[in-house]
Amino acid sequence: MELTTERLVLREYTLSDHAAVHAFASDPRTSTFVEWGPNSEQDTRDFLNFCIDKAAEAPRRSHTLAITLDGSVIGSIGLTLNTRGGRHGTQEAEIGYTLHPDRWGKGYATEAASAMLHFGFSQLHLSRITAACRPENVASAGVLQKLGMAQVGRLENDRLINGRWLDTLVFAVDAGGSAPAPHNVDT
Ligand SMILES: CC(C)(COP(=O)(O)OP(=O)(O)OC[C@H]1O[C@@H](n2cnc3c(N)ncnc32)[C@H](O)[C@@H]1OP(=O)(O)O)[C@@H](O)C(=O)NCCC(=O)NCCS
Repeated sequence: MELTTERLVLREYTLSDHAAVHAFASDPRTSTFVEWGPNSEQDTRDFLNFCIDKAAEAPRRSHTLAITLDGSVIGSIGLTLNTRGGRHGTQEAEIGYTLHPDRWGKGYATEAASAMLHFGFSQLHLSRITAACRPENVASAGVLQKLGMAQVGRLENDRLINGRWLDTLVFAVDAGGSAPAPHNVDT
């Protein structure tokens, strides 16, 4: 699959993307608030093989794509279907993204994620898309808010990251653009 936005092309990975992916996946700045990384060379090989294997599955449940700008890979974005079904047999998925630090602050994550949300609702007919980020990850929370996703929950001491138990903010948006009814939201 391939998705095109105003400035970006989101496309399937190939093994030849190793150097470009490793450039951001091995950079400690990208993994400050996430459970993976910084990647070893083998971690990056495993990641690419995982993405390529998942792309070949039918039906496909995981869509992890390279974010490219002018033909160069600058980041990664994924939409993964939940293993459990939603209400009335509907399907839900979680979105996640990473960019090379040199590319931060230019709206690329919002642009890529917006295309992925549209794909999820219009092509996969998802009923809900969720995302999770640490409260300290103001950039990611900013992206999710710009996408129109609402914070619907906060899980305290949810993830062990760099030796510290950090909270998780849960964001969601339902098909049609409405946010699910909030609960357990810190005000
Ligand atoms: C999260 C990440 C993908 C954001 O990418 P980005 O392309 O820089 O984000 P955008 O430029 O689309 O930013 C959208 C909004 O987020 C907010 N934002 C982005 N970076 C910010 C920062 N450093 N500080 C505060 N707000 C920020 C702003 O509101 C911004 O909108 P504005 O530019 O109109 O003010 C990037 O920081 C990253 O790769 N981080 C490491 C990996 C990661 O943490 N991924 C998310 C895991 S939950």
